[in-house]
Amino acid sequence: MKFPKDFFLGAASASYQVEGAWNEDGKGVSNWDVFTKIPGKTFEGTNGDVAVDHYHRYKEDVKLMAEMGLDSYRFSVSWPRIIPDGDGEINQKGIEFYNNLIDECLKYGIVPFVTLYHWDMPEVLEKAGGWTNKKTVDAFVKYAKACFEAFGDRVKRWITFNETIVFCSNGYLSGAHPPGITGDVKKYFQATHNVFTAHARSVIEYKKLKQYGEIGITHVFSPAFSVDDKEENKAAAYHANQYEITWYYDPILKGKYPEYVIKNIEKQGFLPDWTDEELNTLREAAPLNDFIGLNYYQPQRVIKNHDTGEKIERTRENSTGAPGNASFDGFYRTVKMDDKTYTKWGWEISPESLILGLEKLKEQYGDIKIYITENGLGDQDPIIEDEILDMPRIKFIEAHLRAIKEAISRGINLKGYYAWSVIDLLSWLNGYKKQYGFIYVDHKHNLDRKKKLSFYWYKKVIEERGKNI
Ligand code: NOJ
Repeated sequence: MKFPKDFFLGAASASYQVEGAWNEDGKGVSNWDVFTKIPGKTFEGTNGDVAVDHYHRYKEDVKLMAEMGLDSYRFSVSWPRIIPDGDGEINQKGIEFYNNLIDECLKYGIVPFVTLYHWDMPEVLEKAGGWTNKKTVDAFVKYAKACFEAFGDRVKRWITFNETIVFCSNGYLSGAHPPGITGDVKKYFQATHNVFTAHARSVIEYKKLKQYGEIGITHVFSPAFSVDDKEENKAAAYHANQYEITWYYDPILKGKYPEYVIKNIEKQGFLPDWTDEELNTLREAAPLNDFIGLNYYQPQRVIKNHDTGEKIERTRENSTGAPGNASFDGFYRTVKMDDKTYTKWGWEISPESLILGLEKLKEQYGDIKIYITENGLGDQDPIIEDEILDMPRIKFIEAHLRAIKEAISRGINLKGYYAWSVIDLLSWLNGYKKQYGFIYVDHKHNLDRKKKLSFYWYKKVIEERGKNI
């Protein structure tokens, strides 16, 4: 089987991780510009001031993408570049940068797939409460509209938010991301609700404009599986999926929140403060979603957590995505299993779980169109005589593309695959020591770009439409 012509084989990035130019051409300060400068927050104090300088080198980068043959490039717009103070005037220089980037993609026939929020928010809004403040919702809708109006003639695929669970849980539970708050469960749930409302309102606005494109959201997809058949562990997996999948997917795709979570958090006093109007908006927007984007890296293996006395604390070191933590409510624990394989960062490698997860997703949400908006291997790539021989990445992506073929043959409505990432970029907390890209960036020599082995491999895969996968 080949990947169909209308299936995108692409790759992705995010503004803060690649652009740099943090204070150029009228860009406002973002929450990440501030957060990364607080001592101890990131590995060796790395930040995105320069990142990989995509802002100045986008032409060179897009040319490489074209050489690779990418069908599509997923990138994000930096909100503070467009509306520096979050809610005021539009910065024309910011619009100009993305116009140029979009036009450069189109010049080579690369379809731009645009994320509106990949975590960098104007600092002014963060200071005023960020996602816990409903004014941020209004500001976001205004920003989203500004983007649709400026770019919508050429951009026909939009993602509102990237990985709400990650920026909300790290923002308000572990404190590993801005605003760096720990253990505030009430704020965590409020932030998620405000994001879902912002998504729903933006979807409605987009459809009103009749630009005839697609809009959706990108969520983490880490389905939880019980380690065995014990009832208590199966209940743990159910709980994990309700809190980490259903809580996130239901309000978007069904327009309502799951009863199981509502009942629990109501008892605990964590129910968000929501209005009937907001709940109606969720309901109204749900059928307007054109797709769901999934970032799939690994599944979760879970057991019932019995160490209930333990203080559940996450730090930068233990919130890196590797198993071994108790959930924030102490109900379950993720574990590493002897019979599974793991990356150097302790993430499980399991293309089979992607297929199983997709089948469950279909049971819950039907035939909604799906894009895998991220998937890839974080590694310290071997460099031998100046060549970057990233065989493990090739193997990883190949296995996942094979799983995607299998899922398509089982009737899953998959329409695209975006490898993370197109180019080596800044890890939010880990600097540059973990690489994901097809293109290497030489931090010792002027940020020079160099093609990795995987670059040539992916080019061939795209040329052959995956025939030999
Ligand atoms: C998902 C995030 O969207 C992306 O920004 C991050 O770099 C990757 N995961 C890898 O951790």
